[in-house]
Amino acid sequence: MKKRATLISLSIMLIISLLALAGCAGTEKEAPAAEEKSPEVKEEATAPKEEAKSDERGVVNLYTDRHYDTDEELYKLFTEETGIEVNVVKGKADELIERLAREGQDTEADLLIAADAGRLHRAKEKELLQGITSEAVLNNVPENLRDIDNEWVGLTVRGRVIVYSKDRVDPSELSTYEDLASDKWKGKILVRSSSNIYNQSLLASLIDIDGEEKGKEWAKGVLANMAREPKGNDRAQATAVVAGEGDLAIMNTYYVGKMLNSSNPEEVKVAENVGVFFPNQDGTGTHINVSGVGLTKNAKNKENAIKFIEFLSGEKAQNQFAEANYEYPVNASVEPSELLKSWGEFKTQNINLSKLGELNTKAVEIFNEIGWK
Ligand code: FE2
Repeated sequence: MKKRATLISLSIMLIISLLALAGCAGTEKEAPAAEEKSPEVKEEATAPKEEAKSDERGVVNLYTDRHYDTDEELYKLFTEETGIEVNVVKGKADELIERLAREGQDTEADLLIAADAGRLHRAKEKELLQGITSEAVLNNVPENLRDIDNEWVGLTVRGRVIVYSKDRVDPSELSTYEDLASDKWKGKILVRSSSNIYNQSLLASLIDIDGEEKGKEWAKGVLANMAREPKGNDRAQATAVVAGEGDLAIMNTYYVGKMLNSSNPEEVKVAENVGVFFPNQDGTGTHINVSGVGLTKNAKNKENAIKFIEFLSGEKAQNQFAEANYEYPVNASVEPSELLKSWGEFKTQNINLSKLGELNTKAVEIFNEIGWK
């Protein structure tokens, strides 16, 4: 399809439809902390060692920081189609990366799935991954959504957007991320802590596009405009907007989808009262990130692991990510869900997502220096 052609050839631009909710790492309720400090996750991380077996043909062993029911469905489907069993160890991304490093050649893990390109890059930097050469995978995933050496590839896309109060903000007042640092938003902005990798990756992207000095100025400006000290997860920012604590929130797209479809009527009400705005459409594009998968350097079931990546990036699995989890597919031959389509297509930042990892340390330094908690 022509979208795909555009993506691949230009390495960017519109991921068009892709977008949506890529879920974050995680958990159904990513709770603020789900990805950062869920105790339940910790347990899982140390539990199933025995499940991870490496008998040549029949298994693939996966370390993942995603906790969606939809993912479980996909594992089952893969097993049905191929007879290959999927053994899963869940945990926080950084813990899983540490574990991989500690286990070295003895690791049972064939694949690492993480919900941020910055984390996948960390695994690469620690030399825990190897290049993926499958033609099918490289055809399924556009170049800008993969590591430059193909040591990891994106599976789902999410946009980090501006969510605004429908009551108090006219979207014509909104324009760019950079504009969030202007005085007109004094006391109006809600955003989570800078310890969260989503914000680190957003700033890393702005450093790449605008330069380090401008990136720092931006962070200072947003800090000066905050309605309150950073706290809570992305959903909590939308809730605070509707409660009147501020007018704008910076958050990932899929949470709006999750809240709209929540079993909790309060969440539905919040989501119905905010609008989604894709920044920088007349210029550098909206910041996106991925959930992605890396092939471990010491994978013992490499062939099965490749098959699994081919499956996850293929049409069937991509449809499921799109329909059930409010994530944008990476595979351009797959349409986003109706909800995502209702938000419209958008232009994305034209940067290789590897940059988010490369500039992560710089972004963290800036946040610490300026005092964004
Ligand atoms: Fe998330």
